[in-house]
Amino acid sequence: MSIIVVGSINMDVVARTATHPMAGQTVLGNQLRFIAGGKGSNQAIAAARAGGDVRLVGKLGQDAFGKTLEAFLHQEALNLDDLTFSPNAPTGTAIIVVDEHGENTIVVIPGANHDLHPAHLSHLPIHPGDFVLAQFEIPLETIHALFTLARSRGANTVLNTAPAMPCSRELLEQVDYWVLNEVELALYGGETVPPHDHDALTALALRTRVQHAQTMVVTLGAEGVLCVPAESEQAVFIPAHRVQAVDTTGAGDCFVGAFVTALRQAFPLESALRFANAAAALSVQTEGASLSMPTRQAIEAFLHG
Ligand code: ATP
Ligand code: RIB
Repeated sequence: MSIIVVGSINMDVVARTATHPMAGQTVLGNQLRFIAGGKGSNQAIAAARAGGDVRLVGKLGQDAFGKTLEAFLHQEALNLDDLTFSPNAPTGTAIIVVDEHGENTIVVIPGANHDLHPAHLSHLPIHPGDFVLAQFEIPLETIHALFTLARSRGANTVLNTAPAMPCSRELLEQVDYWVLNEVELALYGGETVPPHDHDALTALALRTRVQHAQTMVVTLGAEGVLCVPAESEQAVFIPAHRVQAVDTTGAGDCFVGAFVTALRQAFPLESALRFANAAAALSVQTEGASLSMPTRQAIEAFLHG
């Protein structure tokens, strides 16, 4: 295996409404769907559909959602040898509201995802040159142990600090590629709101980076992506494709998964960013997180067609 994703698997309970309810307000929705989600699962599916060899390490509950998600994951080209079931906790769930502009709000109830402990990692077949990917919907101590192991085996580490939360500097020092959106960058950089112009974003990314050998990838939604490569002070900006977004849920996950596959296949950094930017532009044109991840063929047709 060459890409190892250790992360969350959720059942997304997705309501579509014209507008998001304000606190204390009730609005009528027009659709309710149950869709496989979770940042770990979404990123693993995105990486596999983009052409990567992917192992997903995750935990489900022994309940109806868990059974449904297990069956769904088995339809994807994923290695699921390390998909296990929590004895007590329910399957992770996300309550998602998507408005008519495709913008979402999400509440995640982690459940079994928080039962993924460092003890589940020691046997993982991590080899030199592999890419090991995690997000912040599993315990941070598990990610720290994972990245320590990955580094000791000569693998590359990729962290998507979503949803953003405080973490130790020691954990961030284990990260080769740090992928986050602009709001998360503001939070880790100690700002209340993200800066608007690219020079200020670059300066903030440089201040936030914990070591020179770290590549910062800052996704900017419908604007595109800004990257400060390792050992560089100059940013690369790739504009987003102009498309009609119907649901942006999982756009960041699609970007990360496709990006890691491109890196694992030795694409130069800027080509990997363009590949991921195209994949994510395709994903926002389809409803549902996991359902919207494009195939390698679709990404290449979009980029070169
Ligand atoms: P989410 O939490 O919704 O999954 P995110 O906040 O982690 O997303 P974004 O920065 O919103 O991530 O989006 C990730 C990438 O997806 C962007 O860098 C861009 O490549 C692509 N993207 C997002 N929204 C659009 C859009 N409306 N049109 C085209 N591309 C988009
Ligand atoms: O990034 C989108 C994902 O965040 C959803 O699938 C939801 O499960 C939450 O984890």
